[in-house]
Amino acid sequence: MMEIPEREAASIIQTYRRLPVEFVRGEGTRLFDSKGREYLDCLSGIAVTSVGHSNPRVAEAVAAQMASLVHVSNLFYTAPQVELAERLTALSGLDKVFFSNDGATANEAAIKLARRWGQIRNGTGCFEVITLDGSFHGRTLATLAATGQPAKQALFTPLPPGFVQVPPNDIRAVAAAMGAATAAVMIETTQGEGGVVPLAMEYLTDLRALCDEREALLIVDDVQAGIGRTGTWFSWQSLGFAPDIATIAKALGNGLPIGACLATDRAAQAFKPGDHATTFGGGPVVCAAALATLTEIETRALLDNVGARAEQFRLMLDRLDGVREVRGRGLLLGAVLDEPIAADLVLAALDEGLVVNNVLPDTVRLAPPLTISSAEVEEVVRRLSNALRRLES
Ligand SMILES: Cc1ncc(COP(=O)(O)O)c(C=O)c1O
Repeated sequence: MMEIPEREAASIIQTYRRLPVEFVRGEGTRLFDSKGREYLDCLSGIAVTSVGHSNPRVAEAVAAQMASLVHVSNLFYTAPQVELAERLTALSGLDKVFFSNDGATANEAAIKLARRWGQIRNGTGCFEVITLDGSFHGRTLATLAATGQPAKQALFTPLPPGFVQVPPNDIRAVAAAMGAATAAVMIETTQGEGGVVPLAMEYLTDLRALCDEREALLIVDDVQAGIGRTGTWFSWQSLGFAPDIATIAKALGNGLPIGACLATDRAAQAFKPGDHATTFGGGPVVCAAALATLTEIETRALLDNVGARAEQFRLMLDRLDGVREVRGRGLLLGAVLDEPIAADLVLAALDEGLVVNNVLPDTVRLAPPLTISSAEVEEVVRRLSNALRRLES
């Protein structure tokens, strides 16, 4: 089995159960560790490095921006931020953007916007956000309160009030939870951290209709599924509905920390100057990285590649001994195993030179760069199959 690297970082607070490997370099779909071993990366730093590790176009854009202007604060306009806002509104069909630093702070902005919108529409008693069991929206106190995973919440009570969880794919449960206090419903179209569980398309369109009927905002947390991962720029674009507010992060900067909260004009007008703020959000360097990332996705037709490679993955994974089901959308895939051996499989896969991760005891997540080639998909499945066989014996 894998050796523990020499460098054991005793000075790091152990909030993560880290795997025994130290990466020193990345190139496209490949990672290299401190001993020079090569790995195929089927996780992309948890759905982040979508246009590949050390992408030269992103690196050039970041270097050029670093050399000209790094930071001025949001008291001023900068060209990269304005250009990125224009690109994101054009791609999403939403009207306005607030830039944040990551997924949790994008969701904080969405929650605060929904609260302001609720207050203006229905008074100070209208602040509640309905979310789903099994969801994941972040680790700040408010986004943890929104997250439908009691085990993660229990250690940090009391959590901020104003969040109600209902079971997913149950439109009646949402309708029953709605009342004068409801400002918004927040969902992921595919619950990533919850086990790569896609919500039913009919449920999502019904949810849109229900929110319209009750005048509640619909928020899509597209932090994991957005920016091309499911084969469209935003995950809802293949699912027959559109949200009032959407959040993105992860893949937007291909590894640089940037998130965004997008909103329709109707929702966005609830925020006035002074209502929300961030020192770093939407800085020129991270926006330059995001602009280059979007251009890479566009010029290399990566959305088409997602469809083709997802199909290939499904066909090949379905045939693997030990895999019971393959679920997800696009290149956000969950391989559900016959046995609850996902944690062992991750270690065995690492030994085979493959990076995946375990989202449930019986489910491993595959979220490779959107640039992955057909030959690389074959190699990923070969290494995963070897790892599975090794666990059997
Ligand atoms: C759907 C979703 N929302 C929010 C977050 C939180 O994002 P971050 O870790 O960038 O704060 C995540 C992270 O996994 C996520 O998957």
